[in-house]
Amino acid sequence: MKLFEPLEINGMVIPNRVMVPAMVTHLCDEGGMVNDAVIERYAAYAEGGAGLIVVEAMAVHQNKSGALLRASEDKFIPGLRELTRRVHGISDSKIVPQIIHFMKVARTGWRQTVDTLSVEEIDVIVEQFGAAAARVQEAGFDGVELHSAHAYTLSSFLSRTNPRSDDYGGDTLEGRLRLIGRVMENVRRKVGRSFPVCVRFNAEEFIKNGYTVEESKLIARRFAELGFDYLSLSVGGKFEDAVHTPGTVLFPYSGYSGDRCMPGDWLPRALHVNLAAEIKAHLVGNGFTTPVAIAGKLSDPRDAEKLLERGEADMVAIARGLLADPAWANKVKNGQIDSIVQCDYCNVCKQLDGTHKPVICALWPQGALQAPKGSPATPVPRWADDGGVSATPTESTVSLRWSKAPGAAGYDIYRSTGDGDARLLDAVKVTRWVDKCVLGGLRYQYHIRARSADGRAGSPVSTGPVDLPLPGYMVAD
Ligand SMILES: Cc1cc2nc3c(=O)[nH]c(=O)nc-3n(C[C@H](O)[C@H](O)[C@H](O)COP(=O)(O)O)c2cc1C
Repeated sequence: MKLFEPLEINGMVIPNRVMVPAMVTHLCDEGGMVNDAVIERYAAYAEGGAGLIVVEAMAVHQNKSGALLRASEDKFIPGLRELTRRVHGISDSKIVPQIIHFMKVARTGWRQTVDTLSVEEIDVIVEQFGAAAARVQEAGFDGVELHSAHAYTLSSFLSRTNPRSDDYGGDTLEGRLRLIGRVMENVRRKVGRSFPVCVRFNAEEFIKNGYTVEESKLIARRFAELGFDYLSLSVGGKFEDAVHTPGTVLFPYSGYSGDRCMPGDWLPRALHVNLAAEIKAHLVGNGFTTPVAIAGKLSDPRDAEKLLERGEADMVAIARGLLADPAWANKVKNGQIDSIVQCDYCNVCKQLDGTHKPVICALWPQGALQAPKGSPATPVPRWADDGGVSATPTESTVSLRWSKAPGAAGYDIYRSTGDGDARLLDAVKVTRWVDKCVLGGLRYQYHIRARSADGRAGSPVSTGPVDLPLPGYMVAD
């Protein structure tokens, strides 16, 4: 499979194309030091065979925030070094941190915007990025990724909504690129030519008047010219359309652009691959070989493999899918696709991020802070009979019920519509579920898979064909 071909990124060889993109964990304390829980989270990705592990956004400055890792002072280096040492001791996975600068936010909903920064303050940001990059290099990371996506400072300068009227904005793309250009120049000077320096940015802002792929192609081209060693594409996650909950700081993933950034279960799979394909084609067409990564509901191995085969990107970034099951890569490689704990995109992890609580996956056993480890001793859950599965259709829903399977930690619900392709709809811990997205007049079949906490499952049980009646207004006289 293409997924398991290695890739060299400025001397850093990643063993396969599976990337864990940055995902804030809120596992560290307010001080921002690495602790055992943080190390355990990233060690699990290394054990699970991910090619490239991007460590959650860590601050280049001391601005107050919730529990967030930091690279803003030398005192953080020993903890970060322990993290890289552990990961490197486990597998040939590579590990890079995402470094971030963000501006002030308040519980009233107020937020600082880029037009309030003086040129002297911009100079400080340039220096902070350079110093943080040097620290993470010293801590043994294989490279560094600059966070220029979503709602944060570098991305806000890049945005079409950048309100500055000077050289760092002024309605021009070149003006909006100036800060990241200066940051890159300084970071490169600090870490040298042979240390991978990479960037994450939005392929599309998904806000009113935001930039689209027309401009992100040009941004990507400039980033390739600047010598960024990979371009990791995300989308949205902006303050401009965020919905303010009184008494809390504005969460940039609460509006539509946030829905696009961390797409929930109602959005299509692989929904941003088209953006990557356009950007990649633009780079290749202009002679740039810079690797491109893309994220967004790519945890179905078929989708991941297809986009690589088509050359739409070079790496597949899987965030919530690997949170649910850090062993995703090894399971795909070993042909154990049926044992993957499949993310159902319920976004409990996103809600935990929004409320600054430790980020866990709702599919893990109750109370677990980390993904359960696989154990051959765990019995595979199996029904002794047909699982007593029943499906009751109405004009607009299908209600499913089944019996408990001994040893099951959860149940995955699949639906097929006669084309033979069963699609995952949801993952639940109870023994009932209602399908509210059915079309009258169609025939459906449902399959329930009982799985252990580490993802192993026996054969699914299935309903017979379920015929939905046509709604009254469709029935001819
Ligand atoms: C809990 C959580 C925390 C995240 N933290 C970051 C972050 O620190 N930096 C970042 O660039 N993206 C962050 N993201 C976005 C993911 O990296 C990823 O782009 C997004 O979830 C879509 O990919 P997926 O569909 O594979 O989950 C976060 C996402 C989640 C769910």
